[in-house]
Amino acid sequence: MIPIIELNAVERSYGEPPVRACAGVDLVVQEGELVAIVGPSGSGKSTLLNLIGTLDRPTGGTARIGGADVQTLRDQDLSALRAHRIGFVFQQFHLSDGVTAVDNVADGLLYLGEPRSARRSRARKALDRVGLGHRHDHKPHQLSGGERQRVAIARAIVGDPLLLLADEPTGNLDSQSGMAIVKLLELLNRQGTTVVVITHDVELANKFPRQITIKDGRIVDDSSRVGVHA
Ligand SMILES: Nc1ncnc2c1ncn2[C@@H]1O[C@H](COP(=O)(O)OP(=O)(O)OP(=O)(O)O)[C@@H](O)[C@H]1O
Ligand SMILES: [Mg+2]
Repeated sequence: MIPIIELNAVERSYGEPPVRACAGVDLVVQEGELVAIVGPSGSGKSTLLNLIGTLDRPTGGTARIGGADVQTLRDQDLSALRAHRIGFVFQQFHLSDGVTAVDNVADGLLYLGEPRSARRSRARKALDRVGLGHRHDHKPHQLSGGERQRVAIARAIVGDPLLLLADEPTGNLDSQSGMAIVKLLELLNRQGTTVVVITHDVELANKFPRQITIKDGRIVDDSSRVGVHA
C-alpha cells in the first residue's frame, strides 16, 4: 500500500496568544481509502484539510502528501502538486456565475495550458461521470444545489487527481441530495481516487469505511485502529 497522506506530530497555531487549531496530529491515509474526518465546529477540521491539501503549511511536525514533504517544497512546487494531484470540493460550491457547467469544469484544467477545445472535451466526460450528462450547458443558477455540487466535484476530478478532499460537501444540501453526493464520492473512490471528506455530521461519517474523530485539534478516535489491530 502506498501512503498518500503522512502527518507526523503536525501542529498549526494561529495568532497570539496562539490557538492550537491542529495540536499534534499523526495520521496515515493509504492510496484507495475513503475516509471521513468528523468533529464539532471549531475542532480543527478545515485546518487539517487545508494542511492535507497543501493550502497551508504546518507550524510544527512534518506533512508528506503524495510522497512530497510539504515543509521543504517551494511555493511553486506546492502549487504544482496541488494542481496535478489534489482535487478540492467545498460546502459553498464556488462555481463561476454566468458560466456553463462545461466551462466551470474546464477551468479546473487551466494550469495545463491545453487548448480550450481539449479542456471542454475532458470537462464533458467529467460531467458525464458525475451524472450530469444532460446539464452540460446549464449555468449555476439553472441547476439545483445537488447538481451544483456535482459540477464542483466534476471540476475537482477533471484532472484525475490522486486525492479528492471535500470540506462539508453536503452542508448546503437536503438529506436526499446529500446522500446522492455521498454515493458519488463512493463511486469515484471505487474507480480509484483516494477520498477524504470532512463533516460535523456523525451519521454521515458513519457511512464511510473509516472515520477519524477530532476534538480540540487532536485525533481522539480512528475507526481503522480497531480494524488494523484486531
Ligand atoms: N485564520 C485563523 N486565525 C485565528 N484562528 C483561527 C483561524 N482559522 C481557524 N482558527 C481557529 O482554529 C480553530 C479550528 O478552526 P477550523 O476552521 O479548523 O474548525 P472546523 O472544525 O473546520 O469548524 P467548522 O465545523 O465550524 O467549520 C477554531 O477555534 C478557529 O477559531
Ligand atoms: Mg470548517
